[in-house]
Amino acid sequence: MATAGKVIKCQAAVAWEYNAPLVIEEIEVAPPQENEIRIKVIATGVCHTDLYYLYEGKHKAGFPAVLGHEGAGIVESVGPGVTEFKPGDKVIPLFISRCHECRFCKNPKSNQCEYNWSSQKSAVMCDTDSRFTCRGKVILQFMGTSTFSEYTVMNQMAVAKIHDDARLDRVCLLGCGISTGYGAAINTAKVEPGSVCAVFGLGAVGLAAVMGCKNAGASRIIAVDINEKKFEKAKILGATDCVNPKAHTKPINEVLAGMTNGGVDFSLECVGNVGVMRSALESCVKGWGVSVLVGWTDLSDISTRPIQLLTGRTWKGSSFGGFKGKDDVPKLVLDYMSGHIKLDEFVTHTMKLDQVNDAIHLMKTGGCVRTVLNLSSK
Ligand SMILES: NC(=O)c1ccc[n+]([C@@H]2O[C@H](COP(=O)([O-])OP(=O)(O)OC[C@H]3O[C@@H](n4cnc5c(N)ncnc54)[C@H](O)[C@@H]3O)[C@@H](O)[C@H]2O)c1
Ligand SMILES: [Zn+2]
Ligand SMILES: [Zn+2]
Repeated sequence: MATAGKVIKCQAAVAWEYNAPLVIEEIEVAPPQENEIRIKVIATGVCHTDLYYLYEGKHKAGFPAVLGHEGAGIVESVGPGVTEFKPGDKVIPLFISRCHECRFCKNPKSNQCEYNWSSQKSAVMCDTDSRFTCRGKVILQFMGTSTFSEYTVMNQMAVAKIHDDARLDRVCLLGCGISTGYGAAINTAKVEPGSVCAVFGLGAVGLAAVMGCKNAGASRIIAVDINEKKFEKAKILGATDCVNPKAHTKPINEVLAGMTNGGVDFSLECVGNVGVMRSALESCVKGWGVSVLVGWTDLSDISTRPIQLLTGRTWKGSSFGGFKGKDDVPKLVLDYMSGHIKLDEFVTHTMKLDQVNDAIHLMKTGGCVRTVLNLSSK
């Protein structure tokens, strides 16, 4: 490739500071170093965690950065020591690495690889060891990925190689939202056939959790959201009942208890609100109910009365749906290609990179499920 070994100048959406719109800039992307690959990003979804970091998280550190962590692309060039990838391979960048050697990688119970950017490099949600510069400044790589850029550089341990025929403007969603919600139901909650489930929050993450409950054989799936526009998609993905907490005077956990003879077997919180996390736990039946936290927030602590757990409920959390992404995302791509999981239904809008602020605004105002940004037609 003509660009291999050279700095690439390309377009990226730069987050210069907290609480300000992204700015389309020309950035410089350095060649990949040892064990790294440079990826031409073809498509990327916009996830609520991007919106959270820019407008809700209240952290002033961690800027300037290139956001975006739900992308798919093609390998442009590889650095020294890279054996698993070659130019032209289709790939999905991952915000959770897989070194295959640390104690977390060796344990089937966890996907929390010790070499992940989050455990080593920075207290903010960014990789400070970045390959990006713009106007003479280093630009951080959000969640180690930065897919709101035409090119990005990643360590090969955080990249999944996927099928050559995969449609990149769909499978990009497996880089975060869909794998997260689907895996939270299948791997973390371990939803059982015939069970009764409730999913709180019907963005892409929650809708994917609904799909996970359905594929696991749940007999009843209650979809909960304060935005009733989300109910139609929830039904398409497998919800049997839809509830708007605002339409009831009683607390939502009491409403669900009334509908289910004392509470649901499994609940999943896919909002990122500690009040909803508590409601989701307390919507579970005593004795065996399992509630999974999926939504992200670091602004407040969670709380409940001890009796909720003493009487047999389990409260747990899930990051990236518990998937060991490098090994599991290629299989999820095949699941999409064979029709076992849906992705098309999640894409409500398609835009270009320079419309990224519109896509973020759409999510903020509840007007979309997922917007996919097409960065390149190739
Ligand atoms: N754990 C992980 O690995 C992981 C990965 C991706 C995303 N997330 C988090 O998951 C959450 C959902 O992400 P998303 O992209 O689907 O977001 P989204 O904004 O598309 O969806 C959130 C949904 O929650 C609904 N909601 C808001 N308040 C509610 C309430 N009180 N009760 C019921 N529903 C309510 C909204 O109407 C919306 O439909 C975010 O917090 C995101 O940061 C976590
Ligand atoms: Zn995400
Ligand atoms: Zn590891």
